[in-house]
Amino acid sequence: MELMQEISRRRTFGIISHPDAGKTTLTEKLLLFGGAIQKAGAVKSAKIKDHARSDWMEIEKQRGISVATSVMGFTYKDIKINLLDTPGHQDFAEDTYRTLTAVDSVVMVIDCVKGVEIQTEKLMEVCRMRSTPVICFINKLDREGRDPFDLLDEIENKLNIKVRPLTWPIGMGKTFKGVYSLYDKNLLLFTPSRTVVEDGVEIKDIHSQELDQLIGEQYATQLRHDVELIEGVYPAFNTSEYLEGRVAPVFFGSAVNNFGVRELLDTFIRIAPAPVHRNTNVRTVEPNEPGFTGFVFKIHANMDPRHRNRIAFVRVCSGRFQRGNNYFHVRQGKNLRFSNATAFMAQDRETIDEAWPGDIVGIYDTGNLKIGDTLTEGEKLMFTGIPSFSPEIFKEVENLDAMKSKQLEKGLQQLMEEGVAQLFTYELGSRKVVGTVGALQFEVIQFRLLHEYGASVRFVPQNIYKACWISCSDPKKLQAFIASRQRHIARDKDGKPVFMAESKAWLQMVQENSPEIAFHFTSEWDVPR
Ligand code: G4P
Repeated sequence: MELMQEISRRRTFGIISHPDAGKTTLTEKLLLFGGAIQKAGAVKSAKIKDHARSDWMEIEKQRGISVATSVMGFTYKDIKINLLDTPGHQDFAEDTYRTLTAVDSVVMVIDCVKGVEIQTEKLMEVCRMRSTPVICFINKLDREGRDPFDLLDEIENKLNIKVRPLTWPIGMGKTFKGVYSLYDKNLLLFTPSRTVVEDGVEIKDIHSQELDQLIGEQYATQLRHDVELIEGVYPAFNTSEYLEGRVAPVFFGSAVNNFGVRELLDTFIRIAPAPVHRNTNVRTVEPNEPGFTGFVFKIHANMDPRHRNRIAFVRVCSGRFQRGNNYFHVRQGKNLRFSNATAFMAQDRETIDEAWPGDIVGIYDTGNLKIGDTLTEGEKLMFTGIPSFSPEIFKEVENLDAMKSKQLEKGLQQLMEEGVAQLFTYELGSRKVVGTVGALQFEVIQFRLLHEYGASVRFVPQNIYKACWISCSDPKKLQAFIASRQRHIARDKDGKPVFMAESKAWLQMVQENSPEIAFHFTSEWDVPR
């Protein structure tokens, strides 16, 4: 009973956006509403800005802060909200993808001046892959932006999802008057304010004279016209379509002015999903099962370089997590005792005694856990849907200090477990190639290997286009392919064979010549999500 109640009052979500669209600002405003912070600026100061490459050391310095803001828990109208932060910097896209495996829904922030940007498209692909419900927040309405109808069309076309506006802007930029809630049928007038939280004026009938008096005849006429058009063009909002990830409700506002944020939050707690089921390699796990299960989706290491301690972020999927209990670590097949679990509340971390489905628990770890690991009360199952994607940039690791080979080995292994990058070890000659999404990671890895493990390395660029995981229904044929292409075969962290393709054209040719082999761009092509 308690379990059911705790589940139904939880919402675990992430905010995603192209850098600068307003993710940090919106996060902060949500925390203000939730009473988790008292003044604006608290999150902002902790933000890792979209740093230029040379600024990556700054990112390192701020890692401590980013751990605190990785998961922000707060309560709003008796709903326990867990907000998972995702890095905006595109070089950390893989980290964002993994964080999305731990949420039940997503709020996507779009800048009304810039419209849908490239990073937004990539992130949406991940949401679509997992059928994650998405709410769009079109931000910066206090600026002269694009026509709202054009923006909606662009979202539909570029993000490939149906939209349904639930609020509608009246004017924009200098003439921005406010937002009309199509969902609650009330009007919120705009007063630029960074702190004041105002209630809307309820307009029962937008044809009443009251509207003209409030916003002027011209805008009242325009609003009536727009609302008529919307109701004619867009089918009524259907919550189950949203929950299935087929339609995205859209809100308009200005985060920095605290505008439209409450409408978003109030609707969010009503429609966003409570913790949902999750797939494993054995069966589907429902959140209301009494036995605890969870998985590691993020590891944050070496907060203190002198001790190799790390925090593993565990998403609770079912049952109740209790501090001090032994839980079964499925990959290692052994019981681990978790006596120092931490919960994340706004920017503080506090020790917790229990956690429920949808919650994120921080566990101090000395090297047992890695991303994707499953914890249970004894059942042997592994959560799926935490894939690795083919990296974009590949470089070979060259050891510059033969005396430190062991340290290098250990450092590489631990950094890969943290998910900083992917390591591919060639069949021939055991060459080690690191693959990343962005160039920044190589500098981070080089620095950390030296400072945390005493290993100095150089990275040698490789002419590789993609790493493709390969499979075949006939193991003999797979072996034959591996043998014939040995120079281009490497193993990933789990020992799975990967074909390192040098160019797109060459990959196509190999694919045509080897029709029996399937080539995959993610490490999990064969499991349900
Ligand atoms: P991000 O996390 O998605 O990268 O975006 P962030 O919230 O940092 O916002 C990026 C910039 O956009 C910030 O300006 C922020 O103040 C501004 N911004 C956010 N919401 C709105 C809005 O509703 N209207 C307008 N006009 N601007 C908005 P900045 O100059 O980079 O930082 P700051 O000096 O203002 O803090």
